[in-house]
Amino acid sequence: MTYRHRHLLGIEPLAPSDITTILDLADRYVTLNRASDKHGDALAGRTQVNMFFENSTRTQASFELAGLRLGADVMNMSMQASSIKKGETLIDTAMTLNAMHPDLLVVRHPHSGAVNLLAEKVNCAVLNAGDGRHEHPTQALLDALTIRRSKGRLHRLTVAICGDIAHSRVARSNILLLGKMESRIRLIGPPTLMPAGVADWGVEVFDDMRAGLEGADVVMMLRLQKERMDGGFIPSEREYYHRFGLDAEKLGYARSDAIVMHPGPMNRGVEIDGTLADDINRSVIQEQVEMGVAVRMAVMDLLARNLGKPMQTARS
Ligand code: NCD
Repeated sequence: MTYRHRHLLGIEPLAPSDITTILDLADRYVTLNRASDKHGDALAGRTQVNMFFENSTRTQASFELAGLRLGADVMNMSMQASSIKKGETLIDTAMTLNAMHPDLLVVRHPHSGAVNLLAEKVNCAVLNAGDGRHEHPTQALLDALTIRRSKGRLHRLTVAICGDIAHSRVARSNILLLGKMESRIRLIGPPTLMPAGVADWGVEVFDDMRAGLEGADVVMMLRLQKERMDGGFIPSEREYYHRFGLDAEKLGYARSDAIVMHPGPMNRGVEIDGTLADDINRSVIQEQVEMGVAVRMAVMDLLARNLGKPMQTARS
């Protein structure tokens, strides 16, 4: 099993074989997580620090549990109350932490590129837990694991990603990953929520759910990221739900065995119907959460094996 990266900053630098390596190991961790004794020792003696500069429930809990299950000492830094509020720069905070010799640093930050910058300044492995609109690599990996376990493969699938693409790091990382694994990607949403330059991304773009969902194997819904919107991107939530909210009727346009995904947190009745989200015959939203812990265990395990080894490039 080879994985030659120092950090996990995004999906972009990964080769398809890296993705397969991570998912294969994560499959083994799913089995461990379902056993009554959930302890591994891949991170025994290691120190994992979680620095979340943006609120997070599931991602932070998932990284924390992943580290604890593999025997790491895990510390959650409360960045709301941190020295950043007193005017310290991100880099100063990182350098201070670096002097305490962490092995794994898990970072979420509202600015795209902030995590890459930080990775250049520290000696440990850095994992991007979401930076602005840029990337959220562990989310794309857990989504891929969920899809692979449900559909048996990651290639030659039609995956529809619907909603607020413009503000979504989840969409970006998923588009990169699914493209590398040779699936077909469709983006569906109002033109106001499509990112600039989307025409060059090698995806098909739709502003109509019926046309976009036709024949889809996977329907991935996204949250309206209101905190990243600085104007009126949609006329009203009611109107948005009517046109783009996923309900049983719209899901009927997709393949009869299509699965429904959402990274959470969900706005029920805005981007997805609550009953459909809870329908265990169609929705794999709970599986996504389960796969999240296993994927984070796998990534941290692989990165810990590379600590102290010379790597091809310091930046990836
Ligand atoms: C996503 C995120 O933070 O980018 N959520 C998550 O990681 N569980 C998606 C979102 O916030 O809508």
